[in-house]
Amino acid sequence: MTGVAPDSTMIRTPDGAPVTMDVEGGVAILTIDLVNEPVNIITRAVRESLMELFDRIDRDESIKGAVLISGKPDTFLAGADIEEFTQLRDVEDATRLSRDGQALVENLEKARVPFVAAIHGACMGGGLESALACRWRIASNDPKTILALPEVQLGIIPGAGGTQRLPRLIGVRAALDMILTSKNVRAKKALQIGLVDEMVHPAILRRIAIDRALALGEGRLKRTARSGGASGLLLDSNPIGRRVVFKKAREETEKKTHGNFPAPLAAIQAVETGMTHGMPAGLREESRLFGEMAVTDVSKQLIFLFFATTALKKDNGLLPGHTAMPVAIEKLGIIGSGFMGAGIAGVAIQKGTIVRMKDSDWSRIGKGLSAISSVVKERLTKHQITRVQYADTMSLVTGTIDYSGFASADLVIEAVFEDLDVKHAVLREVEEVVKPQAIFATNTSTIPVTRIAEVSRRPERVLGMHFFSPVNKMPLLEVIVTPRTSDAVTATAVSYGKKLGKTVIVVNDAPGFYVNRILTPYIGEAGRLLDEGVTIEAIDKALVDFGFPVGPVTLVDEVGLDIAGEVGHIMFEEYGERFEQPRALRSVIDAGRFGRKSRKGFYVYDEAGRKGGVDSTVYEIFAPGRQTADLAEEEIQRRTVFAMLNEAARCLEDEIIRSPRDGDVGAVFGIGFPPFRGGPFRYMDNLGLDALLQQLDDLNVRFPGRFEAAPILLQMARSSARFYP
Ligand code: NAI
Repeated sequence: MTGVAPDSTMIRTPDGAPVTMDVEGGVAILTIDLVNEPVNIITRAVRESLMELFDRIDRDESIKGAVLISGKPDTFLAGADIEEFTQLRDVEDATRLSRDGQALVENLEKARVPFVAAIHGACMGGGLESALACRWRIASNDPKTILALPEVQLGIIPGAGGTQRLPRLIGVRAALDMILTSKNVRAKKALQIGLVDEMVHPAILRRIAIDRALALGEGRLKRTARSGGASGLLLDSNPIGRRVVFKKAREETEKKTHGNFPAPLAAIQAVETGMTHGMPAGLREESRLFGEMAVTDVSKQLIFLFFATTALKKDNGLLPGHTAMPVAIEKLGIIGSGFMGAGIAGVAIQKGTIVRMKDSDWSRIGKGLSAISSVVKERLTKHQITRVQYADTMSLVTGTIDYSGFASADLVIEAVFEDLDVKHAVLREVEEVVKPQAIFATNTSTIPVTRIAEVSRRPERVLGMHFFSPVNKMPLLEVIVTPRTSDAVTATAVSYGKKLGKTVIVVNDAPGFYVNRILTPYIGEAGRLLDEGVTIEAIDKALVDFGFPVGPVTLVDEVGLDIAGEVGHIMFEEYGERFEQPRALRSVIDAGRFGRKSRKGFYVYDEAGRKGGVDSTVYEIFAPGRQTADLAEEEIQRRTVFAMLNEAARCLEDEIIRSPRDGDVGAVFGIGFPPFRGGPFRYMDNLGLDALLQQLDDLNVRFPGRFEAAPILLQMARSSARFYP
């Protein structure tokens, strides 16, 4: 293959255009680079710019090939402009948007000259759909390079031909896998499955892309069709085999979504139509279904969450009008190398923080280090990091049984037993050894941070950083501030939380903070249903059908019954009757069954901690000889979920959370509140406050004291207000 003449002509498009064009030795290079934006997305201006340039290329006979490349350091094209989705008025509007996208991509595919996609960084959604229409795809072998079709996560489907071109390129099974799971495909895997044709070092990406464009244009390079390996191809070309694949995909999707998410089924439908009736029919079906999905309530809620988390990424965690600069955390001290301490350390070292971890004896340190190692090793096993990177990462953490090495810590996170005296002792000791400007954060799950800070000499440097378990998987961090926490300390904790990859909400101090406070009455109500004779299976199924990832009984087994019991106890002392613990929970804890960690709880666990079915012996503990009560699924959902909603409203009223947005994000990312319902506040708005109050009243009559409506709900209903005006 020949290179490009060095004395090539350069044609530049006007400054400020989102796409610029250079011509080098007969190859047009279209560089997408949105001015003043951190990432490239497909805005209206990008679409118009591209259309105009396609036209110019078509008319200029001296151009033999073209390259689509990005000017950004870590995105190729991150997808559609989601802001545009919020302005869609109706199905027709949305269908039209998809048709426009399809037309753009079709222009790329049918251009007079072959296009090469030079992919470095995120290539998502419409970005990947554009790349799919190119004649040749090259990915840089950089960890930043990921390819994905994440549309179903927003309740929509790929709408610019993705449901048609992807299965034709990599086979139906692999395409459905990508579309239905939204998974990120890295360069190496993309090459393996035929999603890209080549993988090169980022430094030579542009050069190679130009070479290939010219070679394709001059007919010296030809694509060879390959799709999803031999078995994939065989299945795709055989109508019976294909039907089996689609049937299975539908069954699995229905099992996972419980009828709550229409988008994955719509995506399957679009792929199937195209594979059965041809591309034009498939494209028509794709835009029709895109239109239908884009205006569903599910999609609106998911898009709301997308914007809410994006806004939180930019939020410095301070109240309006406050300013403070966060300090970089280079060295982190962790006290307690148990479940949470090791979990936090594992995430911190992967972000390059030097960690010193203290516990009371070496055997516990050893356990902690091995827990950290297994978290990091998971990434090695998945080939996300190399052996050298694994070793480098692990070298960032060391253990100690005294406070040696703590003098230079910028932040110390305490994750010792949930016991005020122990936490006081630790705080006193830490303040003796660290520098005065170091921050002390407690990972307590319920003890008010103000009470922990009582013994501090520098209470303005104390706050809560409440991580969720398992720390490497759970996306939320609750930062808890006391009236004395300084703005600079808050800003630093928030900024460091974001560096650890967490979505951070800042909450005020009170028992349970926000997440555990709303979780406790929900679990309590599930316990009362058990007391009344409802089966464990019925309760868990009702809430999974509602959209939670697991039911409340499974959840309490996971969290640990001892912890749930302790949290419940503290909450009862503070808030009274509505937090009274159900008999079922109390007696199972008293029997020493703590859930998965003790391999005994409401469910059966094997030696390795794998969960089996319900442990029927548990009924003997809290209700010997009991009668089973049948309760409608809606009633189970109403009682448990409404207890949570009402408590969320109280948290807003008590100013524990700063906004309904924070409350919604906290519940979705901390508890798994069904994202397609938007979160507790969006859900209450959707139900309508009058209807909600009526139901709460009805429940409160039947269960006095437990469902008394939060005063804020009554006030808002009187003025017909909404949480989201
Ligand atoms: P754990 O029992 O697994 O670990 C506690 C560790 O602290 C043990 O290794 C213990 O030896 C060590 N420790 C106790 N006193 C110490 C001292 N004076 N100096 C040094 N090390 C000491 O407990 P886990 O689950 O990690 O919980 C720790 C904290 O995190 C608690 O406050 C808990 O409420 C909170 N938390 C727990 C969550 C969970 O799901 N387990 C979730 C969020 C917060």
